[in-house]
Amino acid sequence: MLRTENATIRFGGLVAVNSVNMHIKEGQITALIGPNGAGKTTTFNMISGVYRPTEGKVFFNGQEVNGIPPFKMNHMGMSRTYQNINLFKSMSVQDNVLVGMHPRISHGLTDCILRTKKSRAEEKACLEKAEELMEFVGLTHKRNTPAGSLPYGEQRLLEIIRAMASDPKLLLLDEPAAGMNTTEKVELSETILRIKDKGFTVLLVEHDMKLVMNISDYIYVLNFGTKIAEGLPAEIQSNPDVIAAYLGGE
Ligand SMILES: Nc1ncnc2c1ncn2[C@@H]1O[C@H](COP(=O)(O)OP(=O)(O)OP(=O)(O)O)[C@@H](O)[C@H]1O
Ligand SMILES: [Mg+2]
Repeated sequence: MLRTENATIRFGGLVAVNSVNMHIKEGQITALIGPNGAGKTTTFNMISGVYRPTEGKVFFNGQEVNGIPPFKMNHMGMSRTYQNINLFKSMSVQDNVLVGMHPRISHGLTDCILRTKKSRAEEKACLEKAEELMEFVGLTHKRNTPAGSLPYGEQRLLEIIRAMASDPKLLLLDEPAAGMNTTEKVELSETILRIKDKGFTVLLVEHDMKLVMNISDYIYVLNFGTKIAEGLPAEIQSNPDVIAAYLGGE
């Protein structure tokens, strides 16, 4: 579904992503791990079109996507969450989810003003879908709560369903468990597995190794922008380079 070919991002003299080759398979949960500053978020920004690769290429569904801006990548079937939560804080939970559907809405301003049959049908379908998504993560009872008033863990869940609302093929999750307590993390693991069961392909950046090892099908490890390992969770856990750079003696 997604492939990077010698993808590199330079910020002045700093090589944040150094000639990285990755291959994300459809229907799988792929994790991208590594120490702080390893280049994980920069890789997300490159894949989602925020940054154009300085060198190398990114392919999405077989098409080269270098230089395609994020909103177009979203139209093409890629959606993401942010390491620093990025919700519309004063808008309700439901409205945040509805905003996520924007790329899939075909009626325009005139349809809205005239309340055409098309606009009413589409609005109804959107509300039903928002309902399903809120139910999926247990946020139905908070539909009218402003997003900024939700506890941290629920804000993360809302970001995930807002990203799912555009029916992406590939969902990028940047540290979805950050700030969550142990119970919330266990629930999040189950939620991500249910997302996979729904047919989404997931790329996950996460520091919680228990979560990563439990749910990932395949793992890439970055250190100082360079890929130092890739493999199945068991292979990564016993890889001496990964242990030295990131996992430590645990
Ligand atoms: N826009 C930017 N301009 C200059 N340097 C940047 C920029 N964005 C990231 N960097 C640098 O690139 C490197 C990789 O940063 P990145 O945020 O991708 O790391 P990360 O793996 O996501 O780390 P963390 O686990 O802390 O989130 C860091 O040295 C960072 O300071
Ligand atoms: Mg990051």
